[in-house]
Amino acid sequence: MNEGDEIIISAMEHHSNIVPWQLIAKEKKAIIKVIPITDKGDLILDEYKKLLSPRTKIVSVVYVSNSLGTINDVETIISLAHERKIPVLLDAAQAVNHLPVDVQKLDCEFLAFSGHKLYGPTGIGVLYGKKRFLIPCLLTRAGET
Ligand SMILES: Cc1ncc(COP(=O)(O)O)c(C=O)c1O
Repeated sequence: MNEGDEIIISAMEHHSNIVPWQLIAKEKKAIIKVIPITDKGDLILDEYKKLLSPRTKIVSVVYVSNSLGTINDVETIISLAHERKIPVLLDAAQAVNHLPVDVQKLDCEFLAFSGHKLYGPTGIGVLYGKKRFLIPCLLTRAGET
């Protein structure tokens, strides 16, 4: 992430999929772009297409909205991003307990959810990542400490 790079989220994100991007955007002078929603609570995919640009570094959207109950068309969101070689992170906190979630079928680069949404203990969760993305991230983090 460098100055002027772009992060796409949506207008229906939980704070946990907003604040980390705000922090990194502040640190790197990156720009957050937000996919708008209709009055019925659906993402406006035509607007999403317009937001995708050569500066987009990641698309990070919620699979199932906690506030609206909307099940987003993540397959389309992912394939539009992949056409431009942009990685996608899915916040699956409300999806894993309602839908079958198959990361290989979805082909997302990252997917996250917390354990307590599945009646697990608090303080644990899952971050799935494709190896080619996750390992460089981990090595970068290790190099920082
Ligand atoms: C869609 C969504 N994402 C993220 C979170 C955050 O999960 P946690 O409670 O583990 O911070 C929640 C919690 O309600 C959620 O509904």
